[in-house]
Amino acid sequence: MVIVYESKTGFTKRYADMLASKTNLKVFPVKERSKVGKDEETIFLGWMKAGKIQGLNKLRNYNVKAVCGLGTGRTAEPSAAAVVAK
Ligand SMILES: Cc1cc2nc3c(=O)[nH]c(=O)nc-3n(C[C@H](O)[C@H](O)[C@H](O)COP(=O)(O)O)c2cc1C
Repeated sequence: MVIVYESKTGFTKRYADMLASKTNLKVFPVKERSKVGKDEETIFLGWMKAGKIQGLNKLRNYNVKAVCGLGTGRTAEPSAAAVVAK
């Protein structure tokens, strides 16, 4: 299992690095996704922009098992269901 993230200003990277150090999993920015096997179980962290988790679409053909959206909103906007549907 590996961790992949997309971060613009660095907050999501810090969370991904913290998770990696706690779990001993390898961590990759999404632009280095070619280093990750398509079958490798993957945890994805991406920053939220207008209710959409950035970078997740780049892992469409990967084995993503868990997704975490990072944003400044107290809750997912417009709703958790809408974010999941996007
Ligand atoms: C244009 C723009 C749109 C954003 N939209 C959302 C949003 O819909 N929901 C949310 O919770 N945060 C939103 N944010 C806040 C970012 O997700 C937040 O700043 C995040 O920590 C950035 O992550 P990064 O440091 O990894 O780039 C938005 C930020 C920007 C600049």
